[in-house]
Amino acid sequence: MIQTNIRNFCIIAHIDHGKSTLADRLLEYTGALSAREMTEQVLDSMDLERERGITIKAQAVRLEYQAKNGQKYVLNLIDTPGHVDFTYEVSRSLAACDGALLVVDATQGVEAQTIANLYLALDHNLDIIPVINKVDLPSAEPERVQNELHEIIGLDPDECIMASAKTGLGTEEILEAIVQRIKPPQGDARLPLRALIFDSLFDSYRGAIAYVRLVEGKIAIGQRIRMMATGKEFEVTELGTFRPAMCPAKELIAGEVGFVIAAMKNVRDVEVGDTITGVENAALLPLPGYRPVQPMVYCGLYPVDNAEYNDLRDALEKLKLNDASLIFEPENSTALGFGFRCGFLGLLHMEIIQERLEREYGMNLIATAPSVVYKVFLTNGTVLELSNPAELPAANHLDHLEEPYVKATIILPSEFVGTIMELCQDKRGIFKNMEYLTETRVMLTYELPLSEILLDFFDKLKSRSRGYASLDYEYLGHRPSELVKLDILLNEKPVDALSAIVHRDKSYQRGRQLAEKLKEIIPRQLFEVPIQATIGNKVIARETIKAMRKDVLAKCYGGDISRKRKLLEKQKEGKKRMKQLGTVEVPQEAFLAVLKIE
Ligand code: GTP
Repeated sequence: MIQTNIRNFCIIAHIDHGKSTLADRLLEYTGALSAREMTEQVLDSMDLERERGITIKAQAVRLEYQAKNGQKYVLNLIDTPGHVDFTYEVSRSLAACDGALLVVDATQGVEAQTIANLYLALDHNLDIIPVINKVDLPSAEPERVQNELHEIIGLDPDECIMASAKTGLGTEEILEAIVQRIKPPQGDARLPLRALIFDSLFDSYRGAIAYVRLVEGKIAIGQRIRMMATGKEFEVTELGTFRPAMCPAKELIAGEVGFVIAAMKNVRDVEVGDTITGVENAALLPLPGYRPVQPMVYCGLYPVDNAEYNDLRDALEKLKLNDASLIFEPENSTALGFGFRCGFLGLLHMEIIQERLEREYGMNLIATAPSVVYKVFLTNGTVLELSNPAELPAANHLDHLEEPYVKATIILPSEFVGTIMELCQDKRGIFKNMEYLTETRVMLTYELPLSEILLDFFDKLKSRSRGYASLDYEYLGHRPSELVKLDILLNEKPVDALSAIVHRDKSYQRGRQLAEKLKEIIPRQLFEVPIQATIGNKVIARETIKAMRKDVLAKCYGGDISRKRKLLEKQKEGKKRMKQLGTVEVPQEAFLAVLKIE
């Protein structure tokens, strides 16, 4: 295929604005899949993704389109993940494209991720085609959205395509626009090979598979290749394109999008953002923008039953094969026993991994409250990175602490500005900017500690704005903060897994609330259990769980043994998520209690 007839594009949108549905329509229209073969939303392949309706893994598909000018084109659609956790992956997918469809829901308008993704796309110099989707809905206001796009982003209203990914309206117009308005790839096939890895996948038979965009040069079966960031070398055994199933080819040339298989045993050999070059005739410089993935959120994962420790390790290792951004290392808690400290890109990523461990691997887990990574400056000059609050050294060794801050962009209807500013203030936010996007929509910019976002910021934002506010954030850097360690003692014994690092100004209040919450959550035991919250050696709150025996058989008058057994089994079931801490039984919710307090 000659380069002038190739177009590489992606679809960017706020969550739920219809990206996957539109992708389906494009696949269907170009016959990449017949209607009969179409399962809904082919591009979201993982079960969990489908259920949650979110796209986790960027994927690619090659469409063949006969344009109205009579020529045949190859359109490579690169699917981008749409959630805030995955900005880096989005950015790598965009780097593999020359243009983007910007999809905006006609009933919602421009949202935080519409703007965040658009700015990313403009950074990569992509040609933008605005698509106003869901115009079939009675509540659609396409003109209003058209105006917003014009006022906020400066897009020409005449360039907007009205579409319904549901009915197929506008599909042909979109395909024509891709051919006419997006530039063909520019790279020279005679230069040394440079291919951008924008995604990877693990296949148990073939090993890691790299999804690549050839920027310059060519790649062929049998060629020896080198990963420029890691320096690892391999020999290409298979390559080809996605239609959307893998379709083998002998070589790929500059401008093309496809896959490369080279006996790479580990997804870590195929880092997203890395550049592939040839061992011979190597390129001098890698493509710009690579950075190693850095987990932003950590939590401890422990098997409820200590005997399942090895199973948990095996499950994590298997997941890691598929997910290069998952990080874990063994951890030992006096309270919870042996487990793992795991690092994630964000909260959503964390939830997905926990759910997969439980669903796909049948694990029964206790998860500790998520924590950010703190920088700890000791009086002796050493600097530690700390993701487990329990490990914070004693106060007399500490010089100061730093915590991660993010730049948060919030888009919301103007009537909620007051209450949302109050929320940001309460979360230690630093006001940066307020801009009226249109008469009724406002964009607020705040700098916020990431730890406050982990707590409950998103839930509060949604409830205070009746669901209308949208949020996007990016990491800014670490900043000094007045932080202290809050410890919890159950039955006079410290429980390391319940320790938290909190801001000094909020520490007393947090301690009191946490003690109260734990009293509610932890069931009564055979004996009295004191709960104490301490900072340093000072007790700042105390609650007591009264003794009681829960007699589940009390309801069973008479001697119906099968009913009795049923009740006992039910109780056993209920116990599963309990962890025995010394003599006290503590349910999973207790470890997350710190997230739930007001
Ligand atoms: P993420 O992958 O989670 O970012 O979502 P998405 O942008 O891919 O959205 P998706 O395609 O899953 O669509 C979200 C919802 O909107 C689904 O329930 C679709 O059926 C619905 N939807 C998408 N396009 C249209 C449309 O043109 N009209 C109507 N009525 N519904 C649509």
